[in-house]
Amino acid sequence: MGRDNSVQKLYRQWANAIKYRHNPRHTEEELKFLQKYLSDWERALYNQMGTIDQRHALDVASTVKKDPRITNEEERTLLIRAALLHDIGKVKGDFTIWQRVMVKLIYMFFPNYRKKLLVDGEKSKRGTLQKAVYVQDVHSKRGAHMLCLGGADQELVQLVKNHHSIPRSRLERCLLDADNLN
Ligand SMILES: [Fe+2]
Ligand SMILES: [Fe+2]
Repeated sequence: MGRDNSVQKLYRQWANAIKYRHNPRHTEEELKFLQKYLSDWERALYNQMGTIDQRHALDVASTVKKDPRITNEEERTLLIRAALLHDIGKVKGDFTIWQRVMVKLIYMFFPNYRKKLLVDGEKSKRGTLQKAVYVQDVHSKRGAHMLCLGGADQELVQLVKNHHSIPRSRLERCLLDADNLN
């Protein structure tokens, strides 16, 4: 993805963040959707995310649900589950809206500064920019670990773990494309 597209996506995410900050409730239909695809443990992990990440997860799930490249219902169910859970490594309170924007800008334009922030990130307090950069860096592995604790199947764990890596399979490609679209 080029920088122009990344900046456009960043703007869209920021606008969504502002919009969803005032609209945290799920509709009945969305709650049924979550109940249909996620176990109790997985819903607890989903609920640990901030509103913005929950809305993003629902949007990614609705994109993969319509993806014409998936023809097999088993694969579609797996992908919808992965879409709903892919960002659970970001927990409510890990980022402010401005930190979300800063973290992405630093990633795109200041790689050396990012490396510096990452050195202290793990030990930094929640609410600091260092911590936000660190969480963004580890959230896929962190999410996969959280799912393993609940005994999730390995296909799901691997999709979550690799969702920011170069796709190694068709399903990973579909998830990455849906994530980038939302
Ligand atoms: Fe992510
Ligand atoms: Fe995402």
